[in-house]
Amino acid sequence: MAADTTNVLALAHEILPVLTQRRSPRAYADQPVPADALNQVFAAASSASSCFGEQPWRFLVGTRAGSAEAYDKILGSLAEFNQAWAKAAPVLVVSVAKTTFSHDGNPNAWATHDVGQAVATLAIQGAALGLQIHQMAGFSADKVRAAFGVPADYTPVAAFTLGYPGDPGALPDALRERETAPRVRKPLAEFVFEGGWPQPEEERYDQAPV
Ligand SMILES: Cc1cc2nc3c(=O)[nH]c(=O)nc-3n(C[C@H](O)[C@H](O)[C@H](O)COP(=O)(O)O)c2cc1C
Repeated sequence: MAADTTNVLALAHEILPVLTQRRSPRAYADQPVPADALNQVFAAASSASSCFGEQPWRFLVGTRAGSAEAYDKILGSLAEFNQAWAKAAPVLVVSVAKTTFSHDGNPNAWATHDVGQAVATLAIQGAALGLQIHQMAGFSADKVRAAFGVPADYTPVAAFTLGYPGDPGALPDALRERETAPRVRKPLAEFVFEGGWPQPEEERYDQAPV
């Protein structure tokens, strides 16, 4: 499948093209995701590093074509504002973190960090295959826990859609505007602090008038 070239991210520095092509669409094509591609994106997730090599990520997956009951359970756990567009995606997923280390049973403070890394890696592999995911905090972890019987030492982290992107023109006005609005990122100086935490402007002796 060809790369998605809708609303590609433009940055001041050159990065891998696939990173600029990854985006979070709300329009999806009415096209199932082949099993091979699904296996590839979850294999990519498993390639992520993790604290103690714990691999604390788990993924609850529902496909409209093959596991409709799970798909409906995930859809039912989404906030209404997400359901409205997410129901167009052929695959719905909930990421889940194992919150304890397997080697000693202690709490794993990095579990959700590592799940995030796995999902980010999955998203990039997906973009390379022409697929896009859209992550959602707007879902009910309690509903997922109840619907799927998630054990107590696991916690649902986020939901996401997965599929081939569709035509933004098919979206309602408000969503179409968000889909095509320029994608903005902070300049590096706002989040890369070489040498130390930045001082408030007025306290910076290096910028004080002499
Ligand atoms: C953890 C997480 C939660 C998010 N929750 C939602 C959500 O509930 N609904 C939604 O429409 N977008 C959600 N997003 C998507 C972000 O708004 C989107 O990633 C961000 O605006 C950057 O856009 P891009 O992914 O296209 O670069 C979420 C993203 C992340 C990573």
